[in-house]
Amino acid sequence: MKNSIGVVILAAGQGTRLHLDLPKALAPLAGFKIVDYPIMESQKFIKSSGLLGEITLVLGHRKEEVESYLRSTHQNLNFVIQEKQLGTADAVNAYFSQNKNASIHEYTIILCADTPLIRESDLQKLFEVMKTKNLEAVAASFIAPNPHGYGRILRNQKGNLGFSIVEEKDASDSIRNITEVNSGFYVAKTDFLIGHLKNIKSDNKAREFYLTDIFKDNYRVLPLLFNDGFKFLGVNTLRDLEVVHGHLRQEINGSLSSSGVRFIDSACTYIDQTVQVKKGTTIYPNVIIEGKTTIGENAIISAGSVIKNCQIANGVKIKPYSVLEDSIIESEAAIGPFAHLRPGANIGSEAKVGNFVEIKKSKLEHGTKVSHLSYVGDAEIGENSNIGCGFITCNYDGVNKHVTKIGKNCFIGSDSQTVAPVEIGDNCFVASGSTITSPMKDGAFAISRGKQITKDGMASRFLKGKK
Ligand code: UD1
Ligand code: CA
Repeated sequence: MKNSIGVVILAAGQGTRLHLDLPKALAPLAGFKIVDYPIMESQKFIKSSGLLGEITLVLGHRKEEVESYLRSTHQNLNFVIQEKQLGTADAVNAYFSQNKNASIHEYTIILCADTPLIRESDLQKLFEVMKTKNLEAVAASFIAPNPHGYGRILRNQKGNLGFSIVEEKDASDSIRNITEVNSGFYVAKTDFLIGHLKNIKSDNKAREFYLTDIFKDNYRVLPLLFNDGFKFLGVNTLRDLEVVHGHLRQEINGSLSSSGVRFIDSACTYIDQTVQVKKGTTIYPNVIIEGKTTIGENAIISAGSVIKNCQIANGVKIKPYSVLEDSIIESEAAIGPFAHLRPGANIGSEAKVGNFVEIKKSKLEHGTKVSHLSYVGDAEIGENSNIGCGFITCNYDGVNKHVTKIGKNCFIGSDSQTVAPVEIGDNCFVASGSTITSPMKDGAFAISRGKQITKDGMASRFLKGKK
């Protein structure tokens, strides 16, 4: 079919050198899995190219886990299975034999699941070169100062079209000295690919079917040399994963910076690809922002804060060393320093959560303050209430959790506790040091503390021998 493209992503490999108890494709990377990146970039490419396209994953090792992850996170993917990993050509053969539509596409792109830095623009470049030079296939190549392990590119000596690829294991010493290497990322005319796949044999040192054997000196094929070779880094080891993450981090922070987010030192700021931050926000060093977090305009995220899956509105201040998870913080609220928002915390606009305060599954309305050393769990606190230092919602009876409700405009004195379930109305006043166990109506005052007994001069009895 004219103007249609099949993208095949090879993901059958095992990845033992990663030492993760995960199939390699599911290695975590900046909020996604490594396999998500080639899928997302291919989807963008298909959309922007105007071609009709579909994406197929070749799965093998721990295929059920990879497939169930991908089915829950992407739409319109196809899956084929390579039972035994007999080589990259065998993987592409599995694609053509199991996906009935694969052979009708005019073009085919082949990517590896473990090269997450390839971008839509690289797919475009490769595709354009094939079309404008009317080639049958193009392989992306780069210069590797240490080419060990890569297939070496042997360009046509006469300067004509055509080239071949020799794998490390099969290379002579002089070929091993070549530093132009194969990236494992290709585009081809589908008819050409199918025609030559048939002829590939496993008569090499690895006894594998090499996809790279589709390239020959006398074919209309060319390598396309990319200057920024780092983008073809494959993830084989934990060190590779770290290096790839380092490049990705620069990309993520660079793009946030150009959209108006200010970093004090982006080299030590860790933000997932899944995070959104709006302009005017400042992020201090040693901040980690993960998962599906959104941060509005003109917020300040101070040093040492760790934020995961939170919605943070405009003008919020997160002061140093705060830890926030699965929480919502509305505009102009202030959190920290050293605050802990656990899942389900919902902090209203202009509210304040101060130092050494822990909030769990609780809603604080507009303007309410919990400024010091408190635990608030399973609670609802109305607007503009002031919760004193050392307040505790006693929400757990050892078996069940219970709810505490406090109305608006209340004053809860320091060192007070509410024993849930209990409800305090609006405009109430709780005296310092009280333990509240019964409900309070709107406007009520409560005090519950041991009476003070004072005996003049008696202290010396207790201070004896302490001089
Ligand atoms: C391959 C290339 C090499 C290139 C290098 C770039 C071949 C023969 N060699 O070598 O020229 O420089 O990539 O990284 O293609 N896979 C399967 N089924 C298989 C074998 C592999 O799905 O039977 C998948 C792997 O999961 C991986 C990709 O194909 O995503 C590449 O396989 P790998 O074994 O890493 O190939 P290399 O030896 O690195
Ligand atoms: Ca590899």
